[in-house]
Amino acid sequence: MSFDFTPFFAANLPPAAARWAGWAKYNFTFGNNDPDGIAIDDLKAAAEAALTREGRRLADYRMLSGPQGYRPLREFLVRKLKRDAGIDCTADDILILSGSLQGLDLVNAALTERGDTVICERDCYEGTLNRYARRGVGVAGIPVDKGGMRMDALEQALEELKQKGVRPKFIYTIATVQNPTGTVLDVDRRRQLLALAEHYGVPVFEDDCYADLTWSGARPPALYAMSPSQNVIHLGSFSKTIAPALRVGFMVAPWAILSRLLPLKTDAGSGGLEQLMLAEYCEAHFATHVPALRQRFKAKLDTMVAALNEQFGTAAEFDYPPGGIFLWVKLPDSVDAMKLREKALAAGVQINPGPEWSIDKAYSRSRIRLCFASPSHDEIRDGIAVLAEVCRKEFGVPERSGNIQRARG
Ligand SMILES: Cc1ncc(COP(=O)(O)O)c(C=O)c1O
Repeated sequence: MSFDFTPFFAANLPPAAARWAGWAKYNFTFGNNDPDGIAIDDLKAAAEAALTREGRRLADYRMLSGPQGYRPLREFLVRKLKRDAGIDCTADDILILSGSLQGLDLVNAALTERGDTVICERDCYEGTLNRYARRGVGVAGIPVDKGGMRMDALEQALEELKQKGVRPKFIYTIATVQNPTGTVLDVDRRRQLLALAEHYGVPVFEDDCYADLTWSGARPPALYAMSPSQNVIHLGSFSKTIAPALRVGFMVAPWAILSRLLPLKTDAGSGGLEQLMLAEYCEAHFATHVPALRQRFKAKLDTMVAALNEQFGTAAEFDYPPGGIFLWVKLPDSVDAMKLREKALAAGVQINPGPEWSIDKAYSRSRIRLCFASPSHDEIRDGIAVLAEVCRKEFGVPERSGNIQRARG
């Protein structure tokens, strides 16, 4: 008989996890990277060189760089953020994180309490939405169009909240290659967002983890770079550009914020070997690795778009995203994406149902998010064909799949 831990658990724990049963044969979830895009040889060489030269630093929890993370990695980021995002900062403005998810937790812990309100895009990263739900933080969701968060709707939400006496804790935005919609907020809207944030006295929390992945390589300046008033917290990650399993992210923020987050970062420092290796690798290879990775992702997106067009025809609607690793797909209204997820999983296809990626459950009911970065081209083609077949059997759409007219099963 096994010991019963139940009476010992703290109140308000999240629901128990299910044991991992492996990925489905066709996995379009989770935002994993491309296994063939991991720069194994260069990472090995970087780890060896960095360990040989700097390995003694591993005796110190913080690699003799203090609580903000390995200094040479922060110095690389200073140059990279200036070049790519227009951000002027110093290594002292940067905090290395154990994945950018740690940054979400730290900011939420420092700024939010049960009953607070935050603002974000209506369709939003599940990891963000879950965190607000768990903390009892209310979310005002701002609709997104092709140009990203709609500024008229943001202004209206801020004004309505003000009328109710509510000052939101921050505007969280994935402004550059939004997850899941893939949209990029243009420079004019960035100016408007910052002006509204200023006017209503609300900080901005910018989650920029996909910003290096636009197909053109161009991106608007970060909100952090455009703000005249130091009211932006900027979050970044190496997960999407190098490898998610390294679990290294970073934050750029005023000391007024960092000094309140550091006491909450209780892991005594992020992984040392990862930081050593990344500092060495990125200095030499980041600027060439990322454009090659983008091409890799874009080729997979094209395969996914072709597969969806072939298998779903007009039943799958989407905007071709300007970058990133996800496609946000609208299926006919008859499709219940939550049910489709279960049926597709039983057939070996894993998808993210829209309602888990949106605060508007009705709007997202027939939408799904598909990650195209990690499956192979063949898996994309075959997996989308299976998905179409499941969808047709369950919901009668697409009527045609793979150009073959079929009766509903
Ligand atoms: C918008 C967004 N923020 C943060 C994360 C977490 O990234 P990390 O691996 O850096 O913790 C993800 C991962 O998919 C994401 O999509």
